[in-house]
This record gives sequence, structure tokens and C-alpha cells, in this order.
Amino acid sequence: MNKKLNEALALSPAELFALLPPNRVGDTDRRYMNEVLDAGFRNTIDPAGIHQRLEAAFAQRFGTGYAIQHNSGTGTMHTCLLAAGIGPGDEVIVPPLTAVSTAVVVVQCGAVPVFADIDPETYNMNPSDVARKITPHTRAIIPVSLYGLPPDYDPLMALAETHGLVVIEDNAECFLATYKGRMVGTIGHAASYSFQASKHMTSGGDGGMVITNDKEYARNIRKRGALGVRTLGATPGDTFVPRDVRQDYEFERHDVMGYNYRMSAVQAALALAQIERLDALVAARIYIAGQYAQVIEEEGCDWLITPVVPEGSTHSYWTYVCRLDTERAGVSWRDFRSAFIENGGDGLYSAWRPVHLEPVFRDLAFYGRPEQAPNFDPRYQGKVKSYQTGDCPVCEAVQPFLCQFKTSMQTLDRVEVQVAALRKTIRQVASR
Ligand SMILES: Cc1ncc(COP(=O)(O)O)c(C=O)c1O
Repeated sequence: MNKKLNEALALSPAELFALLPPNRVGDTDRRYMNEVLDAGFRNTIDPAGIHQRLEAAFAQRFGTGYAIQHNSGTGTMHTCLLAAGIGPGDEVIVPPLTAVSTAVVVVQCGAVPVFADIDPETYNMNPSDVARKITPHTRAIIPVSLYGLPPDYDPLMALAETHGLVVIEDNAECFLATYKGRMVGTIGHAASYSFQASKHMTSGGDGGMVITNDKEYARNIRKRGALGVRTLGATPGDTFVPRDVRQDYEFERHDVMGYNYRMSAVQAALALAQIERLDALVAARIYIAGQYAQVIEEEGCDWLITPVVPEGSTHSYWTYVCRLDTERAGVSWRDFRSAFIENGGDGLYSAWRPVHLEPVFRDLAFYGRPEQAPNFDPRYQGKVKSYQTGDCPVCEAVQPFLCQFKTSMQTLDRVEVQVAALRKTIRQVASR
């Protein structure tokens, strides 16, 4: 399953980084792009067959039956929910520490997002709080592999089984990690990936993919992301409609509501090149995380609380996230960030604000007026009418202290600058 990743991890740093083009565009990326450009563009079909090749390569690397390309890792989750039949009157449980997309897609379906608090150590969705938040209206859970670490799937899947819930993995930040020997992405009913610029692999800024083993679900997901075209199938080969049929005035095309979330052929060319070197891309992030960890250990720094990786899980380190113990360090989060930047650090992101406290959720600013929010839909008889401070106390307490160190550097020189900046900052803070 992860033989190729282990081989990449066994390389020397110089050998590993030699596999990565410094600006993330290599000869293979250019070759596939040129294949698309040389084949040109026609009305509907993909002359270079690039979508088919990308989907086949992605499904193969993750060991799933089907992969459906999308234009983002947000559209992916919207189509997964729609294809699972989620709509007005339903609740979907999501974590509060995530990109807003994980919750927004629920509202886009006319359903109500319910936030389950996080685990104080891993920062992932806490299965015990998920259990507490299940109601007769709950239809789905979207667990997020936050920062590249899988959540505790066994209890989540057990809850899903008991209550008949659909599980959609949000793996925007998690490529090739494993949970108890299983590839993350193959545990829930479907899994969503993002190729947005900051992610392990990119398709030129934006892009996404859904994987699943369920053929009918895959077919529905593709239809929901392609205007509900009736004749689309799970695999590109299933989509052919004889010319005399599709050109006829009686040909009915659309049998369900769908959106246009298709990826362009140009994006697909880049994604295909990147999936081919995904193992090296992930191995580089794991190596960089190890460098930060080594500095923190060597400096005996006990006020940067390093990521916890539970036994049985592996981490793919979209970023390396530490909790700053400001009392022990004697420095505020903002002063720590300023010092890191002064010492050559390339910015330092906080965690996102808890999603339930973002103004869009707090003010129910979904449609024209707050009362038009799905939370007030007469079909919805649940208790969650609004979102406020105190809904997820663990997340609210931890979020202001998280520091995301970048792991996206593609050259060893740049890695060294960041790691040196961290070492210098730790020494400075310690000597105050
Ligand atoms: C956890 C998580 N979910 C969803 C998304 C949305 O992906 P995209 O930007 O491709 O729509 C992102 C990243 O942007 C993310 O980090």
C-alpha cells in the first residue's frame, strides 16, 4: 500500500528533494500539458484522454474502485452530500476546526451543520462529542484529517453503522496517511481531496477529487458535479452516448439537479504529473516535519507542544502544528510570530477561527435573511438554531495558541532557512 512512500522516505534528503521541481512544475507536468495543448479542444470530449488517465492513476494509487475529478475540494464534498440524498431537514456533523468548506457544503444542500468538538491532543473531531450530537435528523458525518493526521475512525464508523449515517472523509490536507494499517480515503463511504495551491499536490491552484468503492455512488457524484447529466457513468468509459441519440431533439439529458464542478483538461494534466510524484511530495513534508521536531527536541523546548500521532496512525504533515504554551514561554502568540518572521521565518499561520464562530455562521448569513437559513426550515425539528461561543469549548480554548509551521518547501535550502529561524526564535524566547 505504501511501498512507494516508504522508498521515498528511505532516500537521503538530497536524493528526495532532487525529485521535486523547485517551483512545483517539472518536465512531466510540461509534457502532459503539451499533450493536452497538442490534442486541442473540441466541443465535449477530452481529446488527450487526460481526465481518464488522471482518474485511473488516482484510484490506483489510493486502491479504490473510482475517482471522480472536480474543480475544488469544496465541490467534492457538496456532490458527495447531494449524491447521498442530504437535503432540507437533515443534520450533518462536522468539526469546528477546519476550512469553512466542510460546513458550508452542508448549508449548500439546505441542511444544518452541527459542530462536534475536537480532541484536545490531536485536534481532530472527538468521537464522544459526535455521539452526543447525534439526533434523529443526523444523516452524515464529515470527519477531517486535520493537518494531515487521520481522526479516530473506528468509533466514528461504529457510530455511523449504528445510526445509518454516511461518512465522507475530508482529506483535503491528508494524502497517503494510514489508520490502523488502512489507507485513509478508503474508510468512509467516500473521500474528498483538494489540489488547491497549498496542498501536497496541486493541479495549478485549484482542483479536487472524490474516491469511493461504490459504483452507483460514484456515478451519482459525477452527475451532481456535471449538471446532472443522466447518461454519465462512474468511469469515463461509461459516458459514451451514440451520436444519433445525443444529437436527437428528444434526447433528455438532465434527470437530477447538478452543478458544474468539472476540472479543466489543463488542470488534469498538472494533477496527473503530480500524482505520479505524490510519494516524494508527501515524504518531503514528513522529512520537514521531522526537522522541526528535531530542533524543538535539541533545544529542550517544552513550551512548543509538538503534534501527537496516536499509535496505529501515520501523519502526512500538510503543516507542522504546535501549540504555544504562552505562560511557560513567557511570550504571546503574536510576539512569537513576529520574532519567527524577524529571524527569517516565512510567515506563521494561526489555525482558522472555529467555523461556528465565523461571522457567516454566527450571524446565519447564508441567504437573504437569517430566518431563511436551513436551521429554521419547518422540516427541521432539531435544537441547533444558532451557533455561539461555548458550543465547542475545547476548540475555542486551543485555537488561539496553534502555530502552523510550513512544510511546503520544495528545496533543502528553503527548509534550512525555516528550521534555522525556529531554532533562533526558541533561543531568543528562552533567553528573555
Ligand atoms: C480541511 C479542508 N477542507 C476543505 C478544503 C477546501 O478545499 P478547496 O480549497 O480545494 O475547495 C480545504 C482547503 O482549502 C481544507 O483545508
